[in-house]
Amino acid sequence: MANFKDKVIYQIYVKSFSDSNGDGLGDLRGIIGKLDYLQSLGVDYLWLTPFFRSPMNDNGYDVADYLAVDPVFGSMGDVETLIAEAGRRGLALMFDMVFNHTSTGHEWFQKALAGDPNYLDYYIFRDGAPDVPPTNWQSKFGGSAWEYVPHLKKWYLHLFDKTQADLNWDNPAVREALKNVIRFWKAKGVQGFRFDVANLISKPALFEDDDTGDGRRFYTDGPHVHEYLKELVVDTGIGDMVTVGEMSSTSLDNCIRYTTEKELSMVFSFHHLKVDYKNGDKWELQPVDFGAFKRLFHDWQLGMQQAGGWNALFLCNHDQPRAVSRFGDDKRYWKQSAKMLAACTHLMRGTPYIFQGEELGVTNAGYTDISQYRDVESQNYYRIMLENGKPKEEALETLRQRSRDNGRTPMQWDGSPNAGFTDGTPWIQPPENYRAINVAAALQDPDSILHFYKSLIRLRKENPLISDGKIEFLYPDETRLLAYRRFLGAESLFVFNNLSGKEICLDGVRTDSCEKVLGNYPEVSNREGKLLLRPYETLACRLDAVR
Ligand code: GLC
Repeated sequence: MANFKDKVIYQIYVKSFSDSNGDGLGDLRGIIGKLDYLQSLGVDYLWLTPFFRSPMNDNGYDVADYLAVDPVFGSMGDVETLIAEAGRRGLALMFDMVFNHTSTGHEWFQKALAGDPNYLDYYIFRDGAPDVPPTNWQSKFGGSAWEYVPHLKKWYLHLFDKTQADLNWDNPAVREALKNVIRFWKAKGVQGFRFDVANLISKPALFEDDDTGDGRRFYTDGPHVHEYLKELVVDTGIGDMVTVGEMSSTSLDNCIRYTTEKELSMVFSFHHLKVDYKNGDKWELQPVDFGAFKRLFHDWQLGMQQAGGWNALFLCNHDQPRAVSRFGDDKRYWKQSAKMLAACTHLMRGTPYIFQGEELGVTNAGYTDISQYRDVESQNYYRIMLENGKPKEEALETLRQRSRDNGRTPMQWDGSPNAGFTDGTPWIQPPENYRAINVAAALQDPDSILHFYKSLIRLRKENPLISDGKIEFLYPDETRLLAYRRFLGAESLFVFNNLSGKEICLDGVRTDSCEKVLGNYPEVSNREGKLLLRPYETLACRLDAVR
């Protein structure tokens, strides 16, 4: 496996990063124009969200041709230039492989619709009557997971939108076709891959109703998932690249297997990003349960460490609200809390991901009207919430906190109109605070969140203890304090993260022995010689001991 432990990965949501031609959509040339910025940040890999030919019902996660660039994003020549220009700056590219499903616009699905038996077997079709879906499974975007095709008298499975048909991985021809996609991009010089909902690819042999849930227990970490992933990686020779699987509702045991059995370098798991869901329901608001947040990091960090597995570390991506608005305080302690959340994740054991704009402390979008939203999931659930009797204002507040569009607003480059993202009309509006929160302003401010990110990245590069060291957790009972020790050989680094807007005084830590390595307040503070953590303080330091 490649050495990915000292690497930092930057996620680019292509549609919202930088628009080079004024059509209001980000594109590949836009990214090329920003490579110097990315290089100066110090990151190693750029993960690009899908830019392949697509009808864009799910912003490119509905792929109609894995080997073609969608014209709205550019051309194959642009991809080649991007790979070459990135390479000249020491940046490697990771592409996003959406292999659980294709768009119904894909040639394979179109052939299936035309009745070609070879291609019917590329997907999961079941015979049935028009009003009785094969099972009661629910789509992750709302409604039934089955769609009826009248002329075929068959239903097909779609775990996401009805234009995203699930592939039949039990068919060897499907697995081979997908391997060819990897081989194609590998030959172009791509050095890593992210696999979309990688743990949903293997479906059960028997399809049955789920009387206790939405069906996910039948296909999550499904029967052949480990075998299929291993086969894909081995047969395409990408075992020495950086690979990450997005794992929906997964388990620790499975993630240990994904990352220790020659399947993937690391995994995204999401349990720590459900700690504000009421009874597991994303569309029911509840304040963040910091106890659970802390416990999940504790269990996953130690569980993976003990088994030799490896985590992807992240709080943001294109499907999540912005971390500073969710776990921090994006008003009174905006800067402090954004830095604290960064240090908290980057200094745990695993490979950190930065989602575009996170390094600036970008906040949630703050939309006030449904017409401002673009995401298919947000639109579906807005309708469902209203149908279920939720008052409009409450539904809008739920979207303000939960919509995936919070993570999809245009990158904030400067204080000019549309945040410098486009000269045209942006496909989605930036948050109004972009005039203060943007790259140009952050570069001017020596104390900016951006500069703090650079320090964190540098620290990882200079200090093997952060990339290779072990972790143990401290203060298990302080709900709003995430504290841990990283250690390697005789060296230790203590990290204290105050997850609250209140002061916390640590009895067991004497500041006279404390040597600050990194923090978000200028000086270490103490009360009667004991460490005092101020609101949202993060402090990484060397210490004699914690008692
Ligand atoms: C993943 C992607 C998300 C997409 C879904 C279906 O969760 O991150 O954006 O909608 O898969 O492909």
